Amino acid sequence: MKLLVINGPNINMLGIREVNIYGSENYKSLLERLNKLSHEENIELEHFQSNHEGAIVDKIQEAYQKFDGIVINPAAYTHTSVAILDALKAVSLPTVEVHISKVSEREDFRQVNFIRDYAIKSFEGLGIAGYEKAILYLKNYLEEEK
Ligand code: DQA
Repeated sequence: MKLLVINGPNINMLGIREVNIYGSENYKSLLERLNKLSHEENIELEHFQSNHEGAIVDKIQEAYQKFDGIVINPAAYTHTSVAILDALKAVSLPTVEVHISKVSEREDFRQVNFIRDYAIKSFEGLGIAGYEKAILYLKNYLEEEK
């Protein structure tokens, strides 16, 4: 099983940015945790992080027929990007959305979410553990789908 984990803008600044909201664990440590989990679960995992909307769209398009599913934290693009939503719809892979913080309880401008209705599941407010839950959820979903 091949899963693609995509992180949007500023997720590479984890551990530095607003630690009261996003925690003190850095991006490298997130990747290490997810790699460990994927190893234990026999999942092939690829990570991609970009601060650029078009690069994320390109990566989603490249996933077509190469990956079984996508875990995505589109970060700020969650609230603005029709292009990312359209790319996800285009490749039509089961997609789980992750947010480190509890976006549904934050500022009004974060209540617009282009991804939520499309995703098969969303995890928010669980910190970095949300990514682990998302991977396990997607694994389960894909196994049951067979
Ligand atoms: C975020 C929430 C977004 O509103 C924000 O722009 C981010 C991170 C989260 O993981 O909680 O950059 O997606």
